[in-house]
Amino acid sequence: MQREPQTFDRVLSSMCTTPHPVAREAAERFLATNPGDPGTYPTISSLEDEAIELLGEVAGLDDPAGYVASGGTEANIQAVRIARERARSTAATAETPTVVMPESGHFSFQKAANVLGVDLELVPTDDDHRVDLEAVRACVDETTAMIVGVAGTTEYGRVDPIPELGDIAQSVDALLHVDAAWGGFVLPFTDHEWQFGHAPVDTMAIDPHKMGQAAVPAGGLLVRDETLLDELAVDTPYLESTSQATLTGTRSGAGVASAVAAMTELWPDGYREQYQRSQANAEWLAAELAALGYDVVEPELPLVAADLPQATFEALRETGWRISSTGSGELRVVCMPHVTRTQLESFVAALDALESESETPTATT
Ligand SMILES: Cc1ncc(COP(=O)(O)O)c(C=O)c1O
Repeated sequence: MQREPQTFDRVLSSMCTTPHPVAREAAERFLATNPGDPGTYPTISSLEDEAIELLGEVAGLDDPAGYVASGGTEANIQAVRIARERARSTAATAETPTVVMPESGHFSFQKAANVLGVDLELVPTDDDHRVDLEAVRACVDETTAMIVGVAGTTEYGRVDPIPELGDIAQSVDALLHVDAAWGGFVLPFTDHEWQFGHAPVDTMAIDPHKMGQAAVPAGGLLVRDETLLDELAVDTPYLESTSQATLTGTRSGAGVASAVAAMTELWPDGYREQYQRSQANAEWLAAELAALGYDVVEPELPLVAADLPQATFEALRETGWRISSTGSGELRVVCMPHVTRTQLESFVAALDALESESETPTATT
């Protein structure tokens, strides 16, 4: 029996979304191409160049270099790899290179540290879930290969102070990596300082397959200077091309083609409109949850966290709502492009009904 993919009508926890129709169509057309072998597949290879140009526009970078990765995880791993290789060749010390990251950083950096043999040093965040700069200053030294700043954290949608992190990175000759995997397609329409034009950012993760509305897999790794990619390159004797900087070998052209299609269609006006819709939805939901008496973390970007009783959270999941929680146990709702006001209204109605049920006194004899 042929199985159908699930619908998105109750999905509030995901950072993936329905691809834009032009992205879906492009993904289907380029499904059987391999940008990992650019000499043999030149069309998808030139589309990848376009993807990087477009990502550079989104992230304020002239002459961008990089590639379309499988997602934010790969982009983060590769950024750490760049920093490790650079540290190995230039470091004043033979000690294990370290990566300094706020505790709000994505778990993909734990994988990076594990695979690459670097030490991950987590620094605390402040009361508003942004990295504590004093703690970063106290943590860095000559072993620091990279500082990570998050532009749109996974749990609370917060943006670390990227220019200040850049200053600290420069003071110890470390690279600054910005993880904008989720935030990169909404931040251009805010006042936040997060991108290459705002700070000495060296590398960035920015994923078309999240708020960029491309089909999965379409992550993005951008580097300010093409020589940073050389840290990753290996020779490729049996291919028509001579070297490869990606982590995977064969890659689907679907992600590349769909990223170009989505960005060509939506940058900048379509993304701006989507950001406004998503942000308005997040603010509406935050106000509704606050009115129901829950503690809410203000949505600075389209992501709402609120302190719901565990039993209510579980009851919502049992009725089919796909919701997740933060490490501290708050409900976390990501207002992705597929999340509509109507959907959120049904969610709040379901929540309200559960709360009324639990308040109804049981009959006594
Ligand atoms: C900030 C951030 N970075 C990286 C990732 C990992 O991205 P992916 O799941 O595409 O590998 C995520 C995923 O949600 C994320 O929120």
